[in-house]
Amino acid sequence: MTRILSVASECAPLVKTGGLADVVGALPAALAALGDEMKTLVPGYPGVMGKLQDTKEVAQFDDLFGGPARVLAAMAAGLDLLVIDAPHLFERAGGPYLDGNGHDWADNPERFAALSYVAAHIAAQGAGGWTPEVVHGHDWQAGFVPEYLHALGAAVPFVFTIHNIAFHGNTDAGRMAALRLDSWRFTPDHFEFWGQISALKAGLMGAARITTVSQTYAQELLTPEFGIGMDGVLRDRQAVLTGIVNGIDTDVWNPETDPNITPYKTPKGKVANTEALRAEFGLEPSDGPLCVLVSRLTEQKGIDLLIKALPALLDRGGQLALLGSGDPALEAEVQELAAANAGVGVKLGYDESLSHRIIAGGDAILVPSRFEPCGLTQLYGLRYGTVPLVSLTGGLADTVINASPAALARGVATGVQFYPITAEALANAFSRLCDLYDAPKTWASLQRNAMKQPVGWETSAQSYHTLYSDLLAG
Ligand code: ADP
Ligand code: GLC
Repeated sequence: MTRILSVASECAPLVKTGGLADVVGALPAALAALGDEMKTLVPGYPGVMGKLQDTKEVAQFDDLFGGPARVLAAMAAGLDLLVIDAPHLFERAGGPYLDGNGHDWADNPERFAALSYVAAHIAAQGAGGWTPEVVHGHDWQAGFVPEYLHALGAAVPFVFTIHNIAFHGNTDAGRMAALRLDSWRFTPDHFEFWGQISALKAGLMGAARITTVSQTYAQELLTPEFGIGMDGVLRDRQAVLTGIVNGIDTDVWNPETDPNITPYKTPKGKVANTEALRAEFGLEPSDGPLCVLVSRLTEQKGIDLLIKALPALLDRGGQLALLGSGDPALEAEVQELAAANAGVGVKLGYDESLSHRIIAGGDAILVPSRFEPCGLTQLYGLRYGTVPLVSLTGGLADTVINASPAALARGVATGVQFYPITAEALANAFSRLCDLYDAPKTWASLQRNAMKQPVGWETSAQSYHTLYSDLLAG
């Protein structure tokens, strides 16, 4: 049994902008099944503070980067939390990272340095009598943990998980004192990165183990194309880098019991959901596949490729129902797409319940990402018999079995993959998808195989469990 402090800027179902939250929210229960005890340290955003139960103050700071703060031990949504109650940093309307106008909060470096700083203090001194044996941080927001642990002289090992290397948490070197970093450690061995302070690099250099969320992404990260500037650092630290693929919460995502949909056991039961989804998105009945997409709308997610390739789907009678939000330019483009094409329905915004109805009602789920560390929606698709059509990258490469002639002959295919990651290859993949859809027996076998794939946390929780115990065993 290991006691672990998980440190993250998001945690589902309390605060979520993407898959990071799902993973952070699911790990404690998955590890508890193996005997580990994980508490999760999160910032006290309004959405978090409002949901706490059994609250107890376990630490105080007179001056946490500009104001007084306390740490509360509390329960919420079944999670055993430690929450930083620091109104000057976290009590704001808007999202965890962005203000109401979509701009980064100017003090994000301090806000998440505070998260790391509190984590290190809990590791060094305990909180309410509980002391972790391992600190497990997620993404750049937890990157300074090893710096503060070092300053406190605490020898607690740090595990660092990269969910998305695109965000470095870089800031100007002039902020060193404000961030309470040791200036003599402003070197390439610690947190200096091309003349800037980098929280991500601090975490990568100070971690005893680095993990990322699929094996393929762990390999890709070592290349300039995917490492996004950090590939050199990661090549140096390759010996401690491993990939552990994400699971999903198979209770929340269970087509047999999902309260948001007409429940079903076999792919045949999807029909009622497909009809309802067409109606909800204003789409006519059609002979082609209803493709769906649930995503942040950003460059990463390949939405521009989808827009270019879409005629290949629409010309075959296929349709698209899309739920997303993000980049205003992409939001405008998908809205124009829907206005110009009867076969396209778009809903902008973030809607958890609708995301379930979409995944249940879709024939195929699209994930045409340029890079994808793991990706969760293709896993929901597999579980719901909604055939994934994905680019061949990261976790999408590791979780979907392409319907190649060999895989079809062996009866193991679960979806369609395309490569290179271009609009042309995606258009081709749409043709293949429509061919498969037009062969009902083959399509039904894809759906059945998809629904049989193990997509829960069991195997991956075991991998984290072993990683922690190996680390402590030295
Ligand atoms: P990322 O973390 O890069 O955004 P993932 O596929 O790992 O990608 O996770 C995205 C998560 O956010 C999934 O749980 C997905 O269902 C959810 N999601 C994304 N956009 C929306 C939306 N507009 N409405 C509801 N859920 C969404
Ligand atoms: C990131 C990645 C996504 C991954 C998620 C959870 O947001 O973009 O691929 O599934 O983290 O690890």
